[in-house]
Amino acid sequence: MKIGIDHIAVYIPNQYLALEDLARARNVDPNKFLVGLGVREMTVPLPEEDVVVLAANAGYRVLKESNVSPSEIGLLIVGTESAEDRAKPTATHVHELLGIRNSCRLYDIVHACAGATYGVLSAIDWLCHPNHSYALVIASDIAKYGKGSPGEPTQGAGAVAMLLGKNPRLLTLQEVNSYGKNVYDFWRPWGKEYPMIDGVYSTQCYLNAVEKCFGGQDMIINKKSAFLYHTPYPKLIRYAHAKVVSMIDGDLNWERHFEEYAAITDTYLSKVGNIYTGSLWLSLASFFEHCYLSGKKNLDELMRAYEGCYLFSYGSGCGAILMKGEFSPTWAEMSQHFQIQQGLAKRVKLSVEEYEKLFDGENIPSCSSTNGWFKFEGVRESQRNYAKRCSDIQ
Ligand code: HMG
Repeated sequence: MKIGIDHIAVYIPNQYLALEDLARARNVDPNKFLVGLGVREMTVPLPEEDVVVLAANAGYRVLKESNVSPSEIGLLIVGTESAEDRAKPTATHVHELLGIRNSCRLYDIVHACAGATYGVLSAIDWLCHPNHSYALVIASDIAKYGKGSPGEPTQGAGAVAMLLGKNPRLLTLQEVNSYGKNVYDFWRPWGKEYPMIDGVYSTQCYLNAVEKCFGGQDMIINKKSAFLYHTPYPKLIRYAHAKVVSMIDGDLNWERHFEEYAAITDTYLSKVGNIYTGSLWLSLASFFEHCYLSGKKNLDELMRAYEGCYLFSYGSGCGAILMKGEFSPTWAEMSQHFQIQQGLAKRVKLSVEEYEKLFDGENIPSCSSTNGWFKFEGVRESQRNYAKRCSDIQ
């Protein structure tokens, strides 16, 4: 039985900061961000866009575009590390906003950036049951490291919703390898506003996990696949890919192979920032959109360029998963809905002062409301309140 992703929808907030402007404000050579890290812009959410709102916006889109009713969803998983509550799952709010039926399993998965990938694996297992038809897995995060911190230029925000089902219209997924090890590379102790990071060590842990996943026993890497990676910042995936290529064939020119098989999603990811749980899945959606826009409109044409794809997910702490995706004949029909590039082109550019205000949770006059369907309305009696912004939502 083929199980995998039927459709994907991405929600990226409508504001961004050019990292060249941030570099100048922080007295850093802009090339450190643009070349050294490979980042160009970062997404900045409004105060009314928390992880619930990001997730619900992506979830609403995926259901609408795939013509699947909320009453058909039997499993809802939100992968996030930016939840607002230590007990009540983000998924409970999302479940209500999307109008999903009550006979539904719903929970969050926390494993740093790998939470949604573990969610995808759980959904695949769940879908093996003959009576189960659709699962919704949503990755939603807001990455904040603090003003002036080394991680600041890698911040981002966004959500990716994935509808999983049988005989999926986008791609079939299979786990290839998993890896886990107890490390302190990036963590969030209770009471700390921002994550604690051992930056250089975190990149070593990431690269070590790449080596372990791609170098698993009996592993034969297909060099004609597309290679999609969790992307905390685009420069790191160059190092990851160089490692992978050295495992395929030491004589292969890794830079040329990178340009052809792995750099495909760079232009998208360098404009969004690290969206933690959603990063790998944004990479997948960007890959399909890029292929669609560059004229590969059917399976034969896509397969001539790439024999499926590898998906590498990394969550600090750490856990890593390598999956393999096989494209479905109907991939282009679904990909035409993504419109990620179009959304990024319409965003509002912020000044550093405006970004800093939004970072501190203040509203700014130039961006009064979101482009989504839901909004956070504040906390009353310790309870978070959400509302629908559009009348076309039941
Ligand atoms: P840093 O200390 O600011 O940067 O932090 P650096 O001094 O190491 O420089 C970065 C690169 O810029 C270097 O290149 C420099 O040479 C280069 P590299 O040696 O790496 O190739 N550079 C320049 N290039 C051109 N012109 C210049 C120039 N100056 C310097 N003038 C760091 C960088 C990534 C550590 C920081 O941004 C950080 O702490 N980020 C957050 C942690 C992170 O992203 N870790 C990645 C792996 S862990 C992961 O992926 C999990 C995560 O997503 C979280 C989760 O799982 O939940 C983070």
